[in-house]
Amino acid sequence: MSRIDIIDIVGSFVKLKKRGANYLGLCPFHNEKSPSFTVSPTKEIYKCFGCGKSGNSIGFLMELEKYSYVEALKWLANKYNVEIEETEVSPEVKLTQQAADSLYIINNFAQKFFADALFNSDEGQDVAMSYLKERGFREDIIKKFQIGYNPSSRDTFTTAALTSKYNLEFLQKSGLVTVRDERPMDNYRGRIIFPIHNQSGKVLGFGARVIKTNDRAPKYINTPENEIYVKSKILYGSYFARMAIDKADECLLVEGYTDVVSLHQAGVENVVASGGTSLTPDQLRLVKKYTSNLTIIYDGDGAGVKAALRGMDLALEEGLNVKLVLIPDKEDPDSYVNKIGAEAFKEFVAQNKKDFILFQLEVSLKDAGSDSAKKSQIVNQVAETISKITKTEEFTRRQDYIKQVSEILKIEEIGMNNLVNKFIRDKVTKDEQRSFRNEPAKVIPEGEEEMPAEDVAADLFNRDEMNERAMIRSLLEFGYRKWNDEQSVADFLFMQITENELDKMMENKELLNVYEIYRTWYNEGLNPTAKSFLYHEDKNINTLVINIMDTNTEISPKWKEHFEGKIPTRDDLFREEVISTLNYLKLRKIKKLIEENQRELEHAVSGEQQMLYLQTHQHLKQMEIELTRQIGTVIIR
Ligand code: GTP
Ligand code: MN
Repeated sequence: MSRIDIIDIVGSFVKLKKRGANYLGLCPFHNEKSPSFTVSPTKEIYKCFGCGKSGNSIGFLMELEKYSYVEALKWLANKYNVEIEETEVSPEVKLTQQAADSLYIINNFAQKFFADALFNSDEGQDVAMSYLKERGFREDIIKKFQIGYNPSSRDTFTTAALTSKYNLEFLQKSGLVTVRDERPMDNYRGRIIFPIHNQSGKVLGFGARVIKTNDRAPKYINTPENEIYVKSKILYGSYFARMAIDKADECLLVEGYTDVVSLHQAGVENVVASGGTSLTPDQLRLVKKYTSNLTIIYDGDGAGVKAALRGMDLALEEGLNVKLVLIPDKEDPDSYVNKIGAEAFKEFVAQNKKDFILFQLEVSLKDAGSDSAKKSQIVNQVAETISKITKTEEFTRRQDYIKQVSEILKIEEIGMNNLVNKFIRDKVTKDEQRSFRNEPAKVIPEGEEEMPAEDVAADLFNRDEMNERAMIRSLLEFGYRKWNDEQSVADFLFMQITENELDKMMENKELLNVYEIYRTWYNEGLNPTAKSFLYHEDKNINTLVINIMDTNTEISPKWKEHFEGKIPTRDDLFREEVISTLNYLKLRKIKKLIEENQRELEHAVSGEQQMLYLQTHQHLKQMEIELTRQIGTVIIR
């Protein structure tokens, strides 16, 4: 970590210009003409004031190159010539890895074998290639997708594989070979073979299609689940689509292998296939890595649409913007693009994109007819769906939906708004009950001020949370300062706030988490600062810390000039800041005590008890007033 130079790293992707203490460039994450992408070498972070993306060097690589955390580390290690020692793996993990490696090697061999059989054997040419040509597939596309053919005799492939000393057990595991009557044989006899690639182009498995459809054999046979073929994580075509998805900032989703191949041939390359089932969370996350815009292109009356509609709430939770295009006349994307041509197809998709939520609403309204019970059920359903859009940065989108949906349903917008908020609150409560730790950090993005105050602002950016942030910030920023002769600021804070007190007081459990990690590190004699958190593996935590440290409160250079250094800086004020955050915390505690006391008072039975509670009340009130007065003199940020 000490070798990382963020300017060097970001600079290898973005042209940066020095501007004051920071560097400025065009944001690589969104389209912009004037630069708002800022890199701070001292804080070791980047932040775009246009799109709000921010993070450290590792986050930058993960975001831009779609690397995993470990992949980003490997990239950095390579750049700085640092050797990465991987921890020893357990025997089970090792076995799985070995199995995975063997399967990749077998698949690679098989893919080459099948391609060779398609291009260079008589049967391949006469039976398979002629079929593919008849369907309109060009040779260059067949080559690009590495399509092949498994000959129809019993064991052509199996014999070749065994002769080349591939292990029968793994051949079975790969699904390429099956054993019948104690004799191994080809599983995909007489089928066209579609290799299925992972993100980096390695073959995970195959889809094998019969040439002449008959009732007895399934149309497709797919690789069985094994160490590398995990259906729920695979999107067919993602390897070939990646760049185009990036460029178009949109991912098209179709059902079948042939749809993907045909669309590519027509020049529509940002397309992947789900294999005809509803999307899994893992597949959605894969899409989300590349783009937030998902357009589903299915045939209009198929069961596929219903399957696709299911699971779409998940897409909204992932922050995906989902559109739907229905292909008419019992066609599918493959047949339709062949029928009307590439240009007309693109035009059709562009003209017929329907918003997913509104589409779902229309469909169910049609179903409901004039049944008012059903209608109110629909109102609830749609509110729940909209409530899945919870990402803070999508606030405007949510409000747009509320508006449009209210119009379609002919109900008052405010009512819809309340209903959606109720679902959000219910979910938050449920999540909190389930787990404190997994709750994402409440990060307040730029431009949040435009929102209507009551709900969101009060909810997300209230004084309590501000105070919690201020406290963590004091710790991160000033923890090592001397508080007095014996104590550092951190020592002082730890002494003032007992553990279990904070547990109760801190609403934001992510912040509490940061506090606890800090204390652990501190007690271990490490030197924790904000920077230590920048490289924390948990992205929630490092985003949170970046946002806390992101100093809107910093005094602008102009001001400084104007007052010629007479303005006290945060440095000068750190004592006040620490005291004021502590006081605020105490105030909150007292407020809670007052409430508790009040409840007791209401249930008091004897006059004596009442008297006691009243005295306590007065005492607490006195403390509250005193603290409020003290806090009033220092502004909490
Ligand atoms: P063509 O008929 O050749 O155009 O293929 P297609 O991809 O259009 O097939 P279809 O629309 O019938 O099915 C869509 C996808 O569902 C396929 O690409 C397969 O991934 C999957 N699928 C279809 N039929 C089967 C089957 O019999 N078994 C399995 N396992 N998957 C199937
Ligand atoms: Mn088809």
